[in-house]
Amino acid sequence: MSAFGRSLSIAVAAITLVVWIGVAVVSAQGPWVAPADAKAMKNPVKGVGNAKKAVETNCVSCHGPMGKGDGPAAAALPPPKPANWTSAAIQKETDGELFWKISNGRGAMPPWKHLPEQERWEIVNYIRTLKGT
Ligand code: HEC
Repeated sequence: MSAFGRSLSIAVAAITLVVWIGVAVVSAQGPWVAPADAKAMKNPVKGVGNAKKAVETNCVSCHGPMGKGDGPAAAALPPPKPANWTSAAIQKETDGELFWKISNGRGAMPPWKHLPEQERWEIVNYIRTLKGT
């Protein structure tokens, strides 16, 4: 590769990195709003199935054993902190909105699209059982 080609690819890599960091920072700020069609999505699943187990495996490290946002990893994370699932703010969201956020993640909150859809809906139902606890 020519010297020009090499410095061009370094420049492209640097710009890509800066844009990526910018997107990561911006996307983790302000209220987290799901798209309207996601909010309107109906929950096709009844019951919690094995959601308690799935949550223990995947979520309690950040969200805490009772979903209050106080898992062992939460202290080390910068704001926004892991959500308190029992709070009014989370409980007033629609099932579709929670499903979409769980699927897509934001900032330190990982996306969980790899979990089967059924399981993600069961997790939403499980989060409902924690309301006001
Ligand atoms: C590595 C830590 C981490 C793990 C693991 C994690 N979360 Fe989160 N979660 C977060 C953080 C941080 C936020 C806040 C994100 C924000 O507001 O930008 C969050 C927010 C949420 C919210 C609230 C969205 C809202 O309306 O504000 C829900 C629901 C949620 N997580 C569900 C889950 C579920 C379900 C799992 C497991 C399948 C999980 N999380 C695993 C860190 C985590």
